[in-house]
Amino acid sequence: DMNRFIDNLMKKMTLEEKIGQLNLPVTGEITTGQAKSSDISARIKRGEVGGLFNLKGVARIKDVQELAVKESRLGIPLLFGMDVIHGYETIFPIPLGLSCTWDMKAIEESARIAAIEASADGISWTFSPMVDVSRDPRWGRVSEGSGEDPFLGAEIAKAMVRGYQGGQMKRNDEIMACVKHFALYGASEAGRDYNTVDMSRQRMFNEYMLPYQAAVDAGVGSVMASFNEVDGIPATASKWLMTDVLRNQWGFQGFVVTDYTGIYEMIDHGIGDLQTVAARAVNAGVDMDMVSDAFVGTLKQSVQEGKVSMQTIDTACRLILEAKYKLGLFANPYKYCDLKRPARDIFTPEHRAVARRIAGESFVLLKNEPSTDRAGSNPSGSTVQPVLPLKMQGNIAVIGPLADTRTNMPGTWSVAAILDKSPSLIEGLKEMTAGKATISYAKGSNLTSDAAYEERATLFGRSLHRDARTDAQLLQEALTVAQKADVIVAALGESSEMSGESSSRTSLDIPDVQRTLLKELLKTGKPVVLVLFTGRPLTLEWEQAHVPAILNVWFGGSEAAYAIGDVLFGAINPSGKLTMTFPKNVGQIPLYYAHKNTGRPLHEGKWFEKFRSNYLDVDNEPLYPFGYGLSYTTFNYGDITLDRTSMPMDGSLTAKVILTNTGSRDGAEVVQLYIRDKVAESTRPVKELKGFQKVFLKAGESREITFKITPDLLKYYNYELQYVAEPGAFDLMIGTDSQHVKTATFVLH
Ligand code: IFM
Repeated sequence: DMNRFIDNLMKKMTLEEKIGQLNLPVTGEITTGQAKSSDISARIKRGEVGGLFNLKGVARIKDVQELAVKESRLGIPLLFGMDVIHGYETIFPIPLGLSCTWDMKAIEESARIAAIEASADGISWTFSPMVDVSRDPRWGRVSEGSGEDPFLGAEIAKAMVRGYQGGQMKRNDEIMACVKHFALYGASEAGRDYNTVDMSRQRMFNEYMLPYQAAVDAGVGSVMASFNEVDGIPATASKWLMTDVLRNQWGFQGFVVTDYTGIYEMIDHGIGDLQTVAARAVNAGVDMDMVSDAFVGTLKQSVQEGKVSMQTIDTACRLILEAKYKLGLFANPYKYCDLKRPARDIFTPEHRAVARRIAGESFVLLKNEPSTDRAGSNPSGSTVQPVLPLKMQGNIAVIGPLADTRTNMPGTWSVAAILDKSPSLIEGLKEMTAGKATISYAKGSNLTSDAAYEERATLFGRSLHRDARTDAQLLQEALTVAQKADVIVAALGESSEMSGESSSRTSLDIPDVQRTLLKELLKTGKPVVLVLFTGRPLTLEWEQAHVPAILNVWFGGSEAAYAIGDVLFGAINPSGKLTMTFPKNVGQIPLYYAHKNTGRPLHEGKWFEKFRSNYLDVDNEPLYPFGYGLSYTTFNYGDITLDRTSMPMDGSLTAKVILTNTGSRDGAEVVQLYIRDKVAESTRPVKELKGFQKVFLKAGESREITFKITPDLLKYYNYELQYVAEPGAFDLMIGTDSQHVKTATFVLH
């Protein structure tokens, strides 16, 4: 049916109209970098546009769709794509935070709600999920991904695609997903955005490719090419990536779009002029040009000159028409244009309640110890009890530059968010504690001491208001407020645009002025909770050593303030676990749990040995390992039992542990399964995540946790890039994080 329909349509299309389908111009509203389109209406009427980018509002989208359907020669409907990355108007935690829930149902639900809201406002296509594995927290875009692990990243990729596309986009509240950025964007050298990527193919396939492939397996409708080069060829011109791997090896059926001006940027990569780079892109297997106007500007000439075949244009055009067909736009171009839906479906109390719950699940409790409370007057002030959860009573001072901002709550890449609708932390806490506790507030410091830095860390006009008072004045006011308080909540860290695109950093410390403020707050002797806002792992050695309680809240979305209150006051028991290693200092980067052993590993218990692989000035250990996160309760792991210690290539084995909630509160634990291939033809990591289960246990409850291990889980890409499991010994580890595990051994034969 689809094929016949598209055959007939394409017979009627001119070359210009076919090239027009490959064009995704910007509408001039929400743009970054260089965008070059103008005169959109006329171009739509001429059939030169296949879709539009980041246009918001169903009424406007309907008007534009009408233009395409009624006034272009063939009436082909447009795609409306947008960066709906972690929610539409109801904003969920930034993806890095979402990944720390390790809750695939919750992640799928967040994407589902994003799809419901976006589709209600006319959007048929989202540029999500972003699945770039990254081991470099200097790179600001780690905030948009799922951290350092390919196995977890693949599970999340599938959950997101399911959430957006549902039953393959049949319903009018399901939209097309776009997995990005293909490929390896997260491995840019030195964590500098858009920088060169170079790595062995074995590493690519074992450590970076899995999440993209998982999205393809889940039926993702489109793929976005990455800005970076791979193996000396810009990804956007890489036939190996876009055709050999993506289509031939993985069987991808959808279309490939560039990342923004990706085609144009290849002039600066130094591989040719606009006509050349556009031809290289389409010949490589890229189908749609986002905002470069390179395809519409040059492809006709390239066809006439024999540099691009008519068949190549036909293939690209067909893939885009197929996407429109699968979305149901030929059957009903106004499928996503129901003007009544926004009021009914966007930013609803139900969606906000889900966002609040999921935000609470994404926070990671990094430290929670008793305060050395010298004043002894606070309600939670005990030298035996950890600082958190707080009691809802007394005077709670909320201090810091992140305490009184609405615009920073949603987090980076939330372009459809209505910023004023997210309560600031103090607004949320005041509402929650009304009649029970007093929330006092002081700003305490600016974000940084450097106004120019703050200016650079601004996107879409989002920045923190800079206070004209001096550092000393701000500090003085904070100390006055702190003196009267029973407990201090220090809301510090990054602003939302200090991470995200084009926000690489070489220092990952909390900015100096804020650390000074924190030191002074600690000197008051009152219990201090650091509520840490960040879009990436930070270096927190000093904070870990001195602050009794640290709750990492990332950027939790539109309901973050309430969710922070839920966790601070104990209505929610934190269960988030890190999906990215927190290093001790920047010099350790890249630092990740699934590293190789090397020929000169340190001996057990040593942190330095001459002529072994280590540093003179810091040990090899992270500050907080992958998988780490505390709870208000405690969990105990029993020893692992295996149903067999020898597994044939066509068999499987079962590993079991008894998990017990040994504390006095109900809580959830993420049980993690790791594997080590002890002897292989190629070197293998010391640990690789191969399974996880998020388990809720009542206080005192025990449960047997079971993992099934099949040879498939033990496969890796060998030197010839064959995906194989090799016979021999394996360690099987189960535990609460990547460092604290029980171990058993088995043999594959
Ligand atoms: O989708 C994004 C991408 O992640 C980064 N460059 C711009 C695109 C469209 O906004």
